[in-house]
Amino acid sequence: MPSMNNAAIIDRMKPWYPDEQAYAGPEHLDGAYVTAYDKKARFDPTEDISLLLDAGMDNDSVVIDLGAGTGTFALAAAPHCREVIAVDVSAAMVELLRRRVHDGGITNVRVVQAGFLSYEHQGDLADVIFTRNALHQLPDFWKVAALERMASMLRPGGTVRIRDLIFDFDPASADERIEAWMDGAVTDPTVGFTAGELAEHVRGEFSTYSWLLEQMLSKVGFDVLDRSFVRSAYGAYTCTRRA
Ligand SMILES: C[S@@+](CC[C@H](N)C(=O)[O-])C[C@H]1O[C@@H](n2cnc3c(N)ncnc32)[C@H](O)[C@@H]1O
Repeated sequence: MPSMNNAAIIDRMKPWYPDEQAYAGPEHLDGAYVTAYDKKARFDPTEDISLLLDAGMDNDSVVIDLGAGTGTFALAAAPHCREVIAVDVSAAMVELLRRRVHDGGITNVRVVQAGFLSYEHQGDLADVIFTRNALHQLPDFWKVAALERMASMLRPGGTVRIRDLIFDFDPASADERIEAWMDGAVTDPTVGFTAGELAEHVRGEFSTYSWLLEQMLSKVGFDVLDRSFVRSAYGAYTCTRRA
């Protein structure tokens, strides 16, 4: 059942829009999983921050982090910019991040419970949009809608950095490449993702091919400045919004 907050979000949307919480991955809505998430995810945002500073992020920048989770990126970006808006559809993630912001006395991180398809940006257009390991929760049609919405929130010339599980290989080699990717899985689920979890990801979530994502990026008005992949599955794109 959607929570009250989510019901309110859905109410404001067109009737054919999906319930983003239903797509969000049940684990992300689960308080115990959320509390243990950072140890499992082992996300170090240092390289992303450095790359975004090189791309022009500064203390006047408005930054949006979509699918912000526990806020690892948002909290690391905050000292470098004017405002970070950390958006996540999960009440459990939002609660944890709000607590972190409050306990840390951080005044320039705003936490919003909303999704890629429902977040309504107000105020100055963003200079930077960041999203990591969240876009794959949406099927491709809705990824395009999410990217289109991201383009509408970003100023021309602004930077979008997308990191996600994206498959950078030909369809003919998919089984072989996915097996090779799974060889890098861990056995302890508290410190990483197991082969079973990766299989569940491929089966039930919506990671897409790099060559499809690149079409989507171009279609909504993003030019790719830089792309990199690890194990042909962990993708990172830095793009700019065309004027
Ligand atoms: C794997 S976590 C990644 C969190 C964080 N970006 C990181 O890299 O550590 C995915 C996050 O995306 C959020 N999420 C899933 N679907 C979403 C949607 N449609 N809109 C916004 N957030 C979403 C989940 O609640 C979860 O916090």
